[in-house]
Amino acid sequence: MQIIESIEDFRKISHKKETKVGLVPTMGALHEGHLSLVRAARRENDIVLVTIFVNPTQFGPEEDFLQYPRNIERDLDLLKKEDVDIVLIPTVDEMYPDGFSTTVNIGKLSEKFEGQFRPGHFNGVATVVTKLLSICRPNVAYFGAKDAQQCAVINKINKELNLGVEISIQPTVRDENGLALSSRNYYLSDSEKTTANLIFHTLNKMHKSWKNGITNSKILTNQAISTLQSDKSIELHYLAIVDSEHFEEVDTLKYDNLIIIAVKIGSTRLIDNITLT
Ligand code: PAJ
Repeated sequence: MQIIESIEDFRKISHKKETKVGLVPTMGALHEGHLSLVRAARRENDIVLVTIFVNPTQFGPEEDFLQYPRNIERDLDLLKKEDVDIVLIPTVDEMYPDGFSTTVNIGKLSEKFEGQFRPGHFNGVATVVTKLLSICRPNVAYFGAKDAQQCAVINKINKELNLGVEISIQPTVRDENGLALSSRNYYLSDSEKTTANLIFHTLNKMHKSWKNGITNSKILTNQAISTLQSDKSIELHYLAIVDSEHFEEVDTLKYDNLIIIAVKIGSTRLIDNITLT
């Protein structure tokens, strides 16, 4: 496994034209969720590239950029075991040199739901992913369904900026209680973890109600919101049913809509979603 810390050095590597390259962009602190993307990339490509970059421009001023868990040695060990070919770990200075001012602004989608709670977040994601795709020029880039709005953002920039990459969305990996794996789960105490199990429980219950014939979005969400609000250890940021491309709320549920949720438990903010299938 090659470990490269400079974009310039990375650019010196050349692949044959017919080599299929799969890219998995990450911010490190890797867990089984990330590794599921790496494994999909390994199955489907000749060369597997992973980037580790905690991107400052997607964190708000009050957010956890400095505290974000970092453990490069452990990450590299895990990636080696997955038979990754190249890991690129660029520096902040090289990604955002003095005077950097070109950003990707994706408009309305960046202002809804996650965007409302994290102003600037999705433009930061759109900018860094555009940069990573243009540095790495993969055939396929892998992302997790857990971050559903991020997937919508990436599909949008890929389409509207003609990036020409195949975007592969992989299913959410969960722990034995259904909690979606996240680097931010490291912040949860045991009791907070137990509370966090309510997230998937709620999504599942709503999914079941839809399967049982309830298609009115208001009825479904209001019921779930009042149950969640009765638990004082959860601060509900949003619970909504949206279409998966524009994140517009729907009145009547149909296949492929998403139930999306964000909560704060203690000081940790968690998101999750489920697709109506
Ligand atoms: P990060 O949070 O490190 O996640 C990297 C990738 O792993 C993302 O595509 C994310 O959706 C996916 N992922 C995280 N948890 C997952 C889970 N439980 N199951 C399946 N996939 C999961 O997302 C980012 O980094 C950044 O925003 C990034 C795209 C790298 C841009 O900076």
